[in-house]
Amino acid sequence: MAGARDFIDSDIYLNGDYEPVRAESAPGSALEVLEGQIPAGLRGTFARNSSNPRFEPPRPYHWFDGDGMIHAVRFADGQAHYRNRWVRTAGFAEDEAAGEARWTGLLQRPDPARLRSPEGPYKNTANTDLIHWQGELLALWWMGGGTPYRVDASTLETKGRFEGAGSFTAHAKLDPRSGDLVFIDYAERPPFLTHGVLTPEGQLTRTPVELPGSRPQHDIALTERYTVLLDVSMFADPEALARGKVRMRFFPDQPTRVGLFDRRSHELVRWFEVPACYVYHYANAWEVREADGGEQVVIHVCRIRDPLMYQAMPGRSERTVPRIAHLRLEPELVRWTLDLGTGEATETVVDDSLAEFPRVDDRLLGAPCPAVYLAMLAERESFRFSGIRRVDLRGGPPVERRYPEGWYGGEVSVAPLEGASADSDADCVLVTFVGEAATGRSELWLLRADTLETVARLAVPARVPSGFHSHWVPAAATDAAREAAQ
Ligand SMILES: [Fe+2]
Repeated sequence: MAGARDFIDSDIYLNGDYEPVRAESAPGSALEVLEGQIPAGLRGTFARNSSNPRFEPPRPYHWFDGDGMIHAVRFADGQAHYRNRWVRTAGFAEDEAAGEARWTGLLQRPDPARLRSPEGPYKNTANTDLIHWQGELLALWWMGGGTPYRVDASTLETKGRFEGAGSFTAHAKLDPRSGDLVFIDYAERPPFLTHGVLTPEGQLTRTPVELPGSRPQHDIALTERYTVLLDVSMFADPEALARGKVRMRFFPDQPTRVGLFDRRSHELVRWFEVPACYVYHYANAWEVREADGGEQVVIHVCRIRDPLMYQAMPGRSERTVPRIAHLRLEPELVRWTLDLGTGEATETVVDDSLAEFPRVDDRLLGAPCPAVYLAMLAERESFRFSGIRRVDLRGGPPVERRYPEGWYGGEVSVAPLEGASADSDADCVLVTFVGEAATGRSELWLLRADTLETVARLAVPARVPSGFHSHWVPAAATDAAREAAQ
């Protein structure tokens, strides 16, 4: 384990703009519009998941430990309504019954009594991200082996575990062409990685993928045919593991392997090598077919080449970068180009600004897209978003929108106005919660996706802390599920 110094600041993520919300609120009157107006074609729900401990958590606290809480704003008939609720997981229910936090966190020794639990010794908090599936939200957890939870997209009521696909990690994706739910799961024991596909008709295919050891993986990218998988260069040190200790280590001389998993044949078709790195999030990926028959896969990804506080890589930068416990976040947006003919991979830096949580228009997952929207990271020790950066993938200049001094933002979701073409982002708005750290005042911002200019600012009647991932649920998705159920 890392030394105590590495966790000395753990309470940072319980105070200031991270301070947990203590209450749930039901929708009241429509949100006040502070500036601009809500576009008539904006119909759907913007929802944000994050860690929000229900009870005083054990120390040292890790930001990932808290119970999942969803903050959501629903747009209909030109108005917006807000509500927030915890995700009522089995672990949450156990704490509620006891009236206190009963689970150890990531930075404590696991409770031996829980080691035999099928989901492992840690509480599945379903706190990491959200996706919509057949009219409901699924609240997902970052750790391998966790089962997602179903949440009513309108009331945010937890409907129980999602039993249709087995366990899988956060950042499952909806393939916009097939409607399939595509996911991965990882584990400490073989199979170390599992790829999964659930069709809208309910057909499930889970396929083990061979890896040389356990590899923590956080995200996947889709192309039309492939799922992009990773064999990362950061994982538990095997020598320490042999002594019964889990110590994450970065192996700079061990290239990261990028795998293409074919979703038609359900097999891993090829690995490619890129410089050693760790990856939290992809922006997007797509296939390119040349006239001469050549085939490439182009991947845009935020990759990190110096990912651990306690293991400095040569040339570590002087700037202050965010950390979450021992994890060090200094990403760059790069493009990997994989050549299926030669087996070669190239890496090109696309944008070197300090930014993460890359998002694109979800209708274009797996297809060329005009832009990536990044959440800019403040140059400070804790993780705070200071603005939005639009990186144009068609050669245009980047555009930035910084929050006012003392304000923080969140991950953006891309919300296409109804009837919007997917060819450009001119008819899409970016949606995010924005807050003032000193006062707890919170707003919801709608920005033009192409220029980042304000479309509308809405007052949110409760504090929305800094947090994790957001998701846009188009009204069409919930309407279709309602009609199918009738
Ligand atoms: Fe994530």
